[in-house]
Amino acid sequence: MFKAPRGTRDILPPEQGYWKWVTEKAAEMCRLYGYQRIDTPVFEDAGLFVHSVGEETDIVEKQMYTFEDRGGDKITLRPEGTAPVCRAYIEHGLHNLPQPVRLFYFGPIFRYERPQAGRFRQHQQFGCEAIGAADATLDAEIIDMAWNLYASLGLKNLTLQLNSIGCRTCRREYLQRLKDYYVSHEGSLCRDCRNRLSRNPLRLLDCKNPNCQDLMKGAPRITEYICADCHSHFTLLQDCLVTLQIPYEVNPYLVRGLDYYTRTVFEIQPVDVGGQSTIGGGGRYDNLIEMLDGKPTPAVGFATGLERIILNLQKQGIELPTVAGGRVYVAYLGEEARKEAVRLGARLRRAGIAATLAMDTRSLKAQLKQANALGFSHAVIIGEEELKANSVLLRDMANGSQVQLSAEEAIRRLKP
Ligand code: HAM
Repeated sequence: MFKAPRGTRDILPPEQGYWKWVTEKAAEMCRLYGYQRIDTPVFEDAGLFVHSVGEETDIVEKQMYTFEDRGGDKITLRPEGTAPVCRAYIEHGLHNLPQPVRLFYFGPIFRYERPQAGRFRQHQQFGCEAIGAADATLDAEIIDMAWNLYASLGLKNLTLQLNSIGCRTCRREYLQRLKDYYVSHEGSLCRDCRNRLSRNPLRLLDCKNPNCQDLMKGAPRITEYICADCHSHFTLLQDCLVTLQIPYEVNPYLVRGLDYYTRTVFEIQPVDVGGQSTIGGGGRYDNLIEMLDGKPTPAVGFATGLERIILNLQKQGIELPTVAGGRVYVAYLGEEARKEAVRLGARLRRAGIAATLAMDTRSLKAQLKQANALGFSHAVIIGEEELKANSVLLRDMANGSQVQLSAEEAIRRLKP
């Protein structure tokens, strides 16, 4: 028997209401902040991610779905959304538009991870990228959007972790200090971290191994090494967050799992579970467009996993808002009435009313029982008597009351 591949899941109808609600809220947030939708392919040239996310990151080293297609091209199912958006920005000359260009996307992301609660091999992201401005107020705008999205859904008890990892120049000295520190503790590092030490020391701060996490507590803090420009950027961002009344915690060891970040990095997490289940994260990536052969262009963005949002909504017992407008079940008795029911179903839908026809000529009682079980708000019943009188019975499923009236009148009453 076939099953969904490990780490993937089917989203069955009862959960779809959450998806609809969350994506509508996110799209509404984008409208309010002036972000426009972009869609990029689900797969890209593998090199795009190696160059942007970084060769020595877990994503590139261990998690990409990469394969050679029949034409011999090396293809990767996208493991994140920022690099493809930057690729599109360069490819379509979006630097010619007024800057910054504010974009958002929804789509599946693929990472070969060890599946666990909230961690999948295919997940859905909603992401925003603001490309073409270096201003710290843009970092604040991105964080504000993420924060307000969660708030508008009613999510509570979230923390915002914030850090600045400096720019290319000031990070150099920090990396040397970090290396010096870890070299003196090399014996206690995990195998991955011993590798990271020479190849990509910043990744040492991202290790989940408990020993390495303990060691991290004594490591030099990047916020003490950032240059004056990076420092004033970070200060202005924090001032904006205070103005926007967004509480935050500076975490000097937050580095995130992708190499393209400069200056601001942030993560939003539920208070009770910590870093393993971050629901959203992002930061500034001022060198990425240039690394992909575009003109030097500063940018900032964030992304959030829709499964993790929904998981947290359910955990926090947040119920879906009730949707206005009911659904109608068309019940009937007898062959003649069946044709009338088909006609009535079509008329209801043309009038914008959701209508479902009873199947099989079961007893009226059985049909109404099914309408009840399926949660219909109303039933329209056509029996022999109604057929003769050219009328229908409109039944309120909640209280069982019913009235006989013309089809036109029933449609008028049912209209949302
Ligand atoms: P990320 O932190 O790797 O960042 O992923 C963003 C969000 O996607 C995470 O906070 C989490 O909610 C969700 N997520 C990641 N991996 C999984 C998984 N295996 N299963 C379920 N959900 C997952 C990025 O991808 C960056 N591109 C964000 C960004 C945009 N930075 C700047 N702009």
